[in-house]
Amino acid sequence: MTIKIDYFSDTNIIPSEEMLKYMMKAKVGNEAAGEDPTVNQLIEKVCHLLGKESAIFLPTGTMANTIAFRVHCDRPGDIVVLDETSHPLKVQSGSISGLAGATPYPISGIRGIYTKKQIEPIIKKGGGRNLPRIRLISIEQTTNFGGGAVWPIEQIEEVCSFARANQVRPHLDGARLFNAHVATQIPIKEYAKHFDSVYLDFAKGLGAPIGAILAGNRAFIEEAWYYKFQQGGAMHQSGILAASCIYALDNNIPKLLDDHKKSAMLAKGLSGISQIDIQPKDYLTNILFFKLQKTKFTVETFIQALRKENIRMLAMEDKIRAIVHMGISEEDIKNTISVISKILCI
Ligand SMILES: Cc1ncc(COP(=O)(O)O)c(C=O)c1O
Repeated sequence: MTIKIDYFSDTNIIPSEEMLKYMMKAKVGNEAAGEDPTVNQLIEKVCHLLGKESAIFLPTGTMANTIAFRVHCDRPGDIVVLDETSHPLKVQSGSISGLAGATPYPISGIRGIYTKKQIEPIIKKGGGRNLPRIRLISIEQTTNFGGGAVWPIEQIEEVCSFARANQVRPHLDGARLFNAHVATQIPIKEYAKHFDSVYLDFAKGLGAPIGAILAGNRAFIEEAWYYKFQQGGAMHQSGILAASCIYALDNNIPKLLDDHKKSAMLAKGLSGISQIDIQPKDYLTNILFFKLQKTKFTVETFIQALRKENIRMLAMEDKIRAIVHMGISEEDIKNTISVISKILCI
């Protein structure tokens, strides 16, 4: 069945003609040997943007997070503290323990955001020969399964400086850091300075087909190269892909603000349907969650009814997730609201 309006993920963006043209002109070389000029150009650009010494180009966010966890948690069993709803914990095929050899320590935050108070007792537990070392905290900005919630910068500062004061390193899962940036107008560098390592993604709302960056200090990135090779992430003429990321950086950041506006439109429209439970004020970026109420539909039958209308959303437990992106227009949002109200009001 063709899907006309796809809220499944902001990774489902088809590269634009302009992006494809830009990719075709990319100068390329052997990336694995550090000789691809376009990859090197992207790395330089991102290091400047983040205020970091060095960076490495990777195909996916999963690989970026996994490599970060492996490098930081260099003693098998070292602990990564992260929210219980975080993407690496929920859906990256067990990569934290399976590939990085680290132990996840899940925290019950609110919409993916936890506090210093919650990590204090864990991090201050003290030593002991048989205790695994708390090595890393990971923060997701914005939170995916938390509905695009934005960590306040003050809370990032508080949590990260507490961690650092206790020899625990902070890592940023910035799959959607650009969304936080456009929503708050806080510079990317201001966020990045609190972290020892930062992963950024170009294949989410920015619309590149493939591409992530992991950044940190020189020693960290040197070590990351080892695992990039080991995990099969060392690429060849990948400048073509890096070009799409450069294009996305140069052209698509402001478009995220349009996504937030369209997302707010969707939230507002849905809140006007009595069978839908959503608080529009809770959703300031591009990810929405809502529940059904007073209806014969279950989450699954509702998703199926939407699919018949060529609209795709995702069922997640008792909620439905919709992610807005540049492949969805205002017209699509209006159509979605009217289709949903027709489905539910019959
Ligand atoms: C917060 C977050 N981190 C990491 C990832 C993993 O990215 P990838 O799909 O490129 O492996 C995702 C994917 O959606 C994500 O939402």
